[in-house]
Amino acid sequence: MPTTKPRILTGDTPTHTGLHLGHYVGSLENRLRLQDEYDCYFLIANVHAFTTLAEKPADIRANTLGIVKDWLAVGLDPQRSTFVLQSEIPAIAELTFLFAMLIPFNKVMRNPTLKTEIESKGLGDTYPFGFPMYAVGQCADILTFRPDLVPVGEDQEAHIEMCRDVALKFNQLYCGVGNRVPAEEHHKQGGVFPIPRAKVGRVGRLVGLDGKNKMSKSLGNAIFLYDSEKDVQKKINKIVTGRATATSPLADDNPLAQYIDVFLPRERAEQIKADYASGKEVMDGHIKAEVGAAINTLLAPMRERRARLEEPPQPGKPGGEEMVLGVIREGIKKANAQAEETLALAKKAMGLEFVNRTLH
Ligand code: TRP
Repeated sequence: MPTTKPRILTGDTPTHTGLHLGHYVGSLENRLRLQDEYDCYFLIANVHAFTTLAEKPADIRANTLGIVKDWLAVGLDPQRSTFVLQSEIPAIAELTFLFAMLIPFNKVMRNPTLKTEIESKGLGDTYPFGFPMYAVGQCADILTFRPDLVPVGEDQEAHIEMCRDVALKFNQLYCGVGNRVPAEEHHKQGGVFPIPRAKVGRVGRLVGLDGKNKMSKSLGNAIFLYDSEKDVQKKINKIVTGRATATSPLADDNPLAQYIDVFLPRERAEQIKADYASGKEVMDGHIKAEVGAAINTLLAPMRERRARLEEPPQPGKPGGEEMVLGVIREGIKKANAQAEETLALAKKAMGLEFVNRTLH
């Protein structure tokens, strides 16, 4: 169905399952909100998962299904939005190769997001060629769908910048867009690719329960979206606030302080922070109970939807997995219709339009 809504593309790499609150406030919450106003494409970067997990294809497959379940549980809606399985969209692979000619090799290798990943994942100097290549692939993931906006976490901004560079260069080289034309004018001036912008979520970086690092599964400092009510409260209760007495202030960078801001209504958060700051007697236990309850209210419907997706098949009723596979298949169809259109435009601009092809 043709639509005039502005378009969004964003995605996740299935290197693990188990979304946590950091994912939620950094990105998913944004996606949920944007589903009505935008024509949304949500991509599962399952090819990219092979950059670090090539020996574990079964894990990647399980995580791929897991991500789709997560999305459905959180409330992303495949009726309104398009779920894109990267490995089934040939245009993405083709554009990756073509775009690789438009980015200097050294620029890819200087990409700060890649550098951080090499360090934090301990990849040393043994990572495959495909690892830095994924940054080029991500440009193709995005531009294949010609979105206006790319909602991502802060850590992805370098990739979006590279994607913008590729789109600018493509439009200039192959579509006759002048060097001085500003990014927002490129599409109007005949560029195949609108120049997308990053949109960072409400909370760029949610601190983990340890108070030191970003919330992350591998660091063991996360609250997962499907933790039981009890576990959520237990984890919150374990936060070390480091206050000497019940009238000591609460440090701004303490995780409890950030969670108060993020998960309680604004007015209530202001009041609690004012109480902490003024030397009033404040019991951390009460505040932790309030924050834990707010998080549990947020998570309850997600837990319920997720449980339905885990159900085994019954006679006459498909199980959760069959539903998920159905959603994936539908998404692939919708995504390829769009992707093939972009690829045809790009190839034409490059003088590569030798045949009309159709994918079925
Ligand atoms: N690299 C992103 C991540 O690990 C996932 C991703 C792949 C992505 N392709 C994308 C995000 C395109 C936004 C747009 O989080």
